[in-house]
Amino acid sequence: MRGRKGQSWKRGESWVGRGRAGLFGAGLRVTGSGVSRFAYWVRAIDEDDFVPSSEPLHLKILPVTPLRQNCSVLYDAPGGVGVVTDPGGNVESILRFIEAEGLRIDAILLTHGHGDHVGGADELREVLRARQGDEVAVIGPDRRDAFLLADARGQAERLGIMGARDVQPDRYVEDGDVLTVMGREMLVRHVPGHTPGHVVFIDPAARLALVGDTLFRGVIGRTDFSYGDHAALVDGIRAALMVLPDDVAVLPGHGMPTTIGAERDGNPYI
Ligand SMILES: [Fe+2]
Repeated sequence: MRGRKGQSWKRGESWVGRGRAGLFGAGLRVTGSGVSRFAYWVRAIDEDDFVPSSEPLHLKILPVTPLRQNCSVLYDAPGGVGVVTDPGGNVESILRFIEAEGLRIDAILLTHGHGDHVGGADELREVLRARQGDEVAVIGPDRRDAFLLADARGQAERLGIMGARDVQPDRYVEDGDVLTVMGREMLVRHVPGHTPGHVVFIDPAARLALVGDTLFRGVIGRTDFSYGDHAALVDGIRAALMVLPDDVAVLPGHGMPTTIGAERDGNPYI
């Protein structure tokens, strides 16, 4: 099963579009320090697609590093299973949250190879493996960011972030991959331009997109790197994200969450 250009999903059903009969049972509860605390419900995708939970999903936003990068912990319930995305640093605070909620972490997802997103991944994997006694995989980004992952420490130090480590993922991802993490299916889309191997993770059942440094509230990611590509970033955002329904929540790598609809209407770069 592969998502294809974000436009089809399972059994040939269109995921894009509005007004589909859906279940209203699944929800996403978002909390975070550094952003105002809020909670809301989102619509499940379709009764034929995925098994919607009657319980809300939880998304904790943990701003890490001096750049306040949005590390996130998506989890089903306190005492349940979770997945950490972009642990750029401040591993102790991430671990403290995981411990306080009593979570078993299924995987660590990386959107791209910048040091403020990946600098804590190797340490977090090491500690979680020891604590949980099982293999916690670092998954992503696309292989084209390998050169950045191999210099995560150097990048982080140049940004004033100390204690970062280079990281070797257990698995790279490719556009169209569907990951199964914490019993959920997440679609991977490749959105290059900020970095060559940048990916976004889309959880259709939760109507959530974890987009790293591609799309922000009102702006898009930097492309003023030697490997940056503004046109590719705009094209990628349009192809992978702007095809999603308006009510899909978007968590960028920095700053406040937004929605696809808000950016479709108000983002001058796309
Ligand atoms: Fe970045």
